[in-house]
Amino acid sequence: MSEQAELIIGGKSYNFPILVGTENEKAIDIGKLRDTTGCITYDVGYKNTGVTKSAITYLDGEQGILSYRGYPIEQLAEKSNFLEVAYLLIYGELPTKAQYAEFDKRIDDHSMIHEDVKTILDGFPSYSHPMGVLSSLICSLTAFYPESLNPNASEKVINDSIIRLIAKMPTMVAWAYKKSKGRPVNYPIRSLEYCSNFMHMMFANPTEIYEVDPVVSDALNKLLILHADHEQNCSTSTVRIVGSSMASLYGSISAGINALWGPLHGGANQEVIEMLDAIMADGGDTKKWIAKAKDKNDSFRLMGFGHRVYKNFDPRARIIKKACDDILEKLGVNDPVLSIAKELEEAALKDEYFVERKLYPNVDFYSGIIYRALGIPTNMFTVMFALGRLPGWIAQWKELRETKEPIGRPRQVYVGHNSRNYVPMESR
Ligand code: CMC
Repeated sequence: MSEQAELIIGGKSYNFPILVGTENEKAIDIGKLRDTTGCITYDVGYKNTGVTKSAITYLDGEQGILSYRGYPIEQLAEKSNFLEVAYLLIYGELPTKAQYAEFDKRIDDHSMIHEDVKTILDGFPSYSHPMGVLSSLICSLTAFYPESLNPNASEKVINDSIIRLIAKMPTMVAWAYKKSKGRPVNYPIRSLEYCSNFMHMMFANPTEIYEVDPVVSDALNKLLILHADHEQNCSTSTVRIVGSSMASLYGSISAGINALWGPLHGGANQEVIEMLDAIMADGGDTKKWIAKAKDKNDSFRLMGFGHRVYKNFDPRARIIKKACDDILEKLGVNDPVLSIAKELEEAALKDEYFVERKLYPNVDFYSGIIYRALGIPTNMFTVMFALGRLPGWIAQWKELRETKEPIGRPRQVYVGHNSRNYVPMESR
């Protein structure tokens, strides 16, 4: 018999099976807990709750290990490109040459967006945050492709939706940016590789030929790969829970974009650069800001530090820190906030407060400095995170459908009033 967990409640013993993952992670299966004991589990913020069995991403927060479909993140970031990683996450295996060519071609075929999307875009004030614009544009795809709403859509319809999303997302992101600048939009160019095409749509000026620097497209490929999936984080869990109601892929991804927007999640990359700029404007005294982050009466947190699951170096942060030095050097960019970031990191890693709580730099600590060197404006940083995370969200939504997971519906411990009688307004 497989290993069991024994739980004793009121002197009575109950046994529950223990599930073991491929990397020997253990989980107590409490699916029958309420039926057998009358109790539920209480775990605010899902800190110790496994919500699914997934074969997509493995993460060991104590060891600082991350892999997609078994491939270490370090190898993928160094040797692969974003589209290949997207294919791997979504379909489970690295593509053959022919599979890659077909995937790439289909993405090129679908990268244009319906001209009516411009009317939707025109409805937003130019000062709108691009994350809000992006989530609305993605959700608008449900109107252009209503067949995607069918909860029993065929595999072909689902696959078409997947291809459309990967193909149209860069166009939508770039159009949201152009709109915020009051400039005409650029159309996708088939012959350009995914990241180069994105940079063209972002920055080409109709009166000039825009050459994409290979240093820039390589850097972007690396950043997007590092963001491509991260198992059951806040936005991915949102995509899965929305998808579990049989909502469409577009609706689920749109919800994920909104979850990512918050400053404790993907929004942290914008917050980090704003924090570094503020520290610099304040004279660059990093000790003062470290002290603020430690002060429990001050709401300031060192943005880009700490993680729910990493209690060691975030492997993505290691890769990004190195890439940051390389890319800035190759592009000849000297951003003074880089030395402030390094000083903060060094001070925090030696400080008892951060050491005790196992707070290390996360993926967002250095990524904004690279985005800025690539010319991406600060309010677009979280949108870049969304562009990278898209294949992960899609893979997780697809897995949920394929394994026929039931609707997600947590329980609660009610702590409100006991039953009481209604009091008419005049007697209150
Ligand atoms: N600066 C100062 N103190 C911190 C920080 C920080 N950045 N992060 C955590 N702490 C402290 C926190 O105050 C708490 O202290 P105490 O035990 O004395 O109450 C302790 O460390 C544990 O923190 P927590 O908030 O209970 O941990 P959590 O797992 O709920 O939160 C987190 C994780 C990422 C939200 C948090 O570390 C944080 O707010 N970091 C800054 C925001 C950030 O960089 N977010 C990006 C995360 S990585 C990208 C992504 O995948 O989303």
